[in-house]
Amino acid sequence: MLPASCSHDVSSATPVTAAAARLPSQAANHTANHAVGHVVVHALLAFAFCIGLATNTLAQASRNGMVVAQETRAARVGVEILEKGGNAVDAAVATSFALAVTYPRAGNIGGGGYMVIHLAGANRQIAIDYRETAPKATTRDMFLDENGDPDPRKSRDSALSIGVPGTVAGLALAHQRFGSGRLTLAELMAPAIRMARDGIPIEDDIADTLPRAETRIGRWPSAAKIFLKPDLTALAPGDLMVQKDLAATLEAIAQHGPRAFYDGPIAEKLAAGIQAAGGIMTAQDLRDYRPILRRPVRGTYRGHRIVSMPPSSSGGVVLIEMLNILEGYKLGSLAQSSRIHFMSEAMRRAFADRTVYLGDPAVVSAPLGRLMSKRYAATLRESIDPERATPSREVHPELGAMREGDNTTHFSVIDRFGNAVATTTTLNFSYGLGFVAEGTGVLLNNELDDFAAKPRSSNASGLVGGEANMPGPGKRPLSSMSPTIVLRDGKPLIITGSPGSSRIITTVLQVIVNAVDLNMPIGDAVSNPRFHHQWWPDEIYVEPGLPPGVTTELTARGHKVVPTPRATSANSIMVTRDGFVGAPDPRTRGSSAAGY
Ligand code: DON
Repeated sequence: MLPASCSHDVSSATPVTAAAARLPSQAANHTANHAVGHVVVHALLAFAFCIGLATNTLAQASRNGMVVAQETRAARVGVEILEKGGNAVDAAVATSFALAVTYPRAGNIGGGGYMVIHLAGANRQIAIDYRETAPKATTRDMFLDENGDPDPRKSRDSALSIGVPGTVAGLALAHQRFGSGRLTLAELMAPAIRMARDGIPIEDDIADTLPRAETRIGRWPSAAKIFLKPDLTALAPGDLMVQKDLAATLEAIAQHGPRAFYDGPIAEKLAAGIQAAGGIMTAQDLRDYRPILRRPVRGTYRGHRIVSMPPSSSGGVVLIEMLNILEGYKLGSLAQSSRIHFMSEAMRRAFADRTVYLGDPAVVSAPLGRLMSKRYAATLRESIDPERATPSREVHPELGAMREGDNTTHFSVIDRFGNAVATTTTLNFSYGLGFVAEGTGVLLNNELDDFAAKPRSSNASGLVGGEANMPGPGKRPLSSMSPTIVLRDGKPLIITGSPGSSRIITTVLQVIVNAVDLNMPIGDAVSNPRFHHQWWPDEIYVEPGLPPGVTTELTARGHKVVPTPRATSANSIMVTRDGFVGAPDPRTRGSSAAGY
């Protein structure tokens, strides 16, 4: 059994000192203990490695601004905007458009996303919902087969799965309302347009993931000619990825604004291409798309304020519900197996509530206040047995037995004024549907698989959906994306989020718990092995690196522990007294922190 404090004195082998990367008060303690701790540190470092405690060698520190993203060029684009005097929102918009070119598996203009913003001057937080919507012709049983059973080919692999893209409208709104006013949309988009037109070399994550998408992309000649070679194998290192049609589409948006995407020749081409592929989206659906400004959900955790994404994402509500439950335990002084037990029990309960209550707030009204209240958390905590796993079938038993049943990108930005932006965007699967509407260069999403094809059926990530999340015209499918800003004393402390479908929310939870309860430097809070429970299936998924004894103890408590590969990518920033520490997630090649 390992004490939770085993990470406390492990120095980071990164350009960032461990003291600089911790929370301010903890950094002070660390410095005071430094002299006595020196020899101990080395012994513990060896110990930490043998227990699989990761040390994040990608972490970087900076004084004036920072962008941490899953792709290096896009992170640099953002930081150049900060250097030119743009604010964090300008940088986030520029980085997003760049990711649509350099990280086509999840960066996009053919999908959607969410942005959580902290405005330092006004001391105010805003959420922008630019989630895709279902076309008007969507019906409740659209993703069922002739026997009335969910047909994943329809919801994941066909043009019926394409939601009306929200990214262009969302980013333009962010720029217009919350940008610095010093840079035009065209200036923010110029680097993306240049990279689409001139091409970028295939490397890092694209080199890793494009071959896995060959079959999906190869079905559509309009997409294959951009991302594959004539023999339908993926572009590979040594090749240049040139996206001329995408450059022209971006150029039209830069010159004429977002309506150029939603109304006129581009929208006509999108609708025609989607319909020719068997989809139901019309030009009117595109014309009707609107992003929504929302009040973020807010919670507190051990003196910190948590600001995260409200529905149409489940992310913030589930995160706050879990944190409220966990606040009742001294996580930092528990044995690791006990900590994972309590955290898994909190995950199980919050994900069960997700199924029962959450959906598009335009259509369903969820008891958000109750779900995020400390009092409700206390009743849930009472139902947790410290020694035994609660079987998932006993949590919301009225749902009865369930059937058992990738990609997104998150980046974080902070500027020298103290404005912060957490943004998560997605096409749902890696490279979305793999489909490009001819002549647009726009790779389209398959987001509508996030609806429940039928109550109590599960989607591609095994998430069980309820009545609240059934398909409907104009409706936003329930998401798990959780761009989150943790504030202390009213100022940003941690900016985080992740891809990974259902794992997004538990990833964000663990980044926060690792930093706040376990005093980890942010680099390690991000790279440390993670685990995940989503209520159904009733299993804890664990990444490599947990000591074997922990699995044995969890199994003895009645948990089913299932090893899983390392996944998700929580590109995060922590503000320390020594500056901004950017922590790219080493799970994805190419993740990087760019600061100045
Ligand atoms: O919105 C959601 O929750 C999902 N469509 C996100 C998909 C995802 O993160 C897949 N990536 N790893």
